[in-house]
Amino acid sequence: MFRILLFFLVFIFTPPGNASPGSIGVATAHPLATEAGIDILNQGGNAFDAAIAVSSVLAVVEPYSSGLGGGGFWLLHTAADNKDIMLDGREIAPEKATKAMYLDKSGKIIPGLSINGALSAGIPGAPAALAWLAKNKGKLPLSESLQAAIDHARNGFPADDYYRKMLGFRLDTIKSFQDSANTFLIDRKIPASNELIIQLDLAHTLELVVKHGRDGFYAGELAKKLVKGVQDVGGIWTLSDLASYKIKIRKPITATYKGMRITSATLPSSGGILLAEIFNILADYSLDKHSDADRVHIIAEAMRRAYRDRAQYLGDTDFIDVPIDTLVSKAYALGLRQSMRLDKATPSEMLAPTSTIPKLGMDTTHFSIIDADGNRVAATLSINYPFGSGFIPEGTGVLLNDEMDDFSSKPGTPNVYGLVGNRANAIEPGKRMLSSMSPTFLEDEDRIAVIGTPGGSRIITMVLLGSLAFHEGKSAEEIVNLPRFHHQYLPDRIQSEPLAFSPEIQNALSSKGHELSITERKWGNMQVVIQEKKRGFVSAASDTRGIGKSVVISTP
Ligand code: DON
Repeated sequence: MFRILLFFLVFIFTPPGNASPGSIGVATAHPLATEAGIDILNQGGNAFDAAIAVSSVLAVVEPYSSGLGGGGFWLLHTAADNKDIMLDGREIAPEKATKAMYLDKSGKIIPGLSINGALSAGIPGAPAALAWLAKNKGKLPLSESLQAAIDHARNGFPADDYYRKMLGFRLDTIKSFQDSANTFLIDRKIPASNELIIQLDLAHTLELVVKHGRDGFYAGELAKKLVKGVQDVGGIWTLSDLASYKIKIRKPITATYKGMRITSATLPSSGGILLAEIFNILADYSLDKHSDADRVHIIAEAMRRAYRDRAQYLGDTDFIDVPIDTLVSKAYALGLRQSMRLDKATPSEMLAPTSTIPKLGMDTTHFSIIDADGNRVAATLSINYPFGSGFIPEGTGVLLNDEMDDFSSKPGTPNVYGLVGNRANAIEPGKRMLSSMSPTFLEDEDRIAVIGTPGGSRIITMVLLGSLAFHEGKSAEEIVNLPRFHHQYLPDRIQSEPLAFSPEIQNALSSKGHELSITERKWGNMQVVIQEKKRGFVSAASDTRGIGKSVVISTP
């Protein structure tokens, strides 16, 4: 009780990036989610209760990014035993899914089928993950940790400009499904700024989860409505798909880079493995001794090689064998590094298969939390494309994901993020689709960071650049606002944000044979919380590219 009072007394809202002495930090992509996380901590909850509150509020107020109809990875650090685990609430392919389900008779991909509507939706993992968190890690009942989400769903949240922009991007699909149009639009139009978006069905669904836990979603009244809604529009879900969904507890990937320890997501996320590969290659260089252009070149060449392996080897380890230990070994990185030259880009075709230009990823969400006891949560959650499949089964309020597009629908053919894959990531019933989501912990001698971002295929490289900046001693604010660049093997080009490279760097990279692709838009929405080990100072920052908010609470 005393601690709760103390928190109220010293509660401080920090502008992004402000450091202050204390021990709690929450950074999320939406102010209402950050506030819900802080409220739960103030009510005596721990970081895991706060993660439930944040995840569920994001599901209501950021429907373009994540939700009960989606999934994600929650990286959890428990201070009491100093253990890290990954809660895998990734979606799975329904039992009736087949390898060729998105191909026509001649074997060509049917455009849009893995992106829009019921057939694009995997069986959601988020509700099972939240119920598991409450039962196994939280201190508070779901009736407390889900209450803020229920309130925002029932009373409405004000349509912000980001919501309105994302809606514009997916308007046609949303309009084509009655419950989606009724929920997210007002009079079938994009709502005006600050008009209230009320989601009564979603409030009821959340209440079912409060009452029955996992079964409130995967069995009974709601499961029947979900399956009926999906099947009515040509989808393939069954009651047994929902009943048999299981979260997995996995051992995260760990790597080291010049005194920094990296702990990140394991398969079915490719994030940790790729980060380990890239860091292992970079460890052989003294990046600070190179010119800016050479530094970008070296990092991009390391990215290229790691993304080649993603396309080649990675998929759900419950279905295929992946040589994880080899891929993350220092010896393997040394082999990859042998083909790297300082003066010349290595054409990706010399490494192996093909693709086209990726579209921009603008949805998905990440949040970072450190609580007073030193428990940590890094969570990246998704329904894939903005507003997922665009489809809400009637009467459920649950917007379904279109995560099935993260499978490789056809070997060598790129998905919506331009990523190619092969048999390792082919569709199979019950299989988890390969992800790039990379919730990550970083630790060096002085500091600990909780970091992550959305951004499709670029998630891993954004986390990489953020981690390098952390290693250089940069602040949370500097890390989230870094200019970004990316290489993903195919297409064979360095992609960058508008102002990432000076004309000199661009010329130097071109002269080494790199093709450059400078995008009009900025990428990502990074959320970082950092704790200094000695004094316990906590700082936090939300990416200024988004509308998120970071809060630090100081204890004297
Ligand atoms: O799991 C994945 O890798 C993707 N579904 C993430 C999508 C994403 O980050 C879109 N956002 N910007």
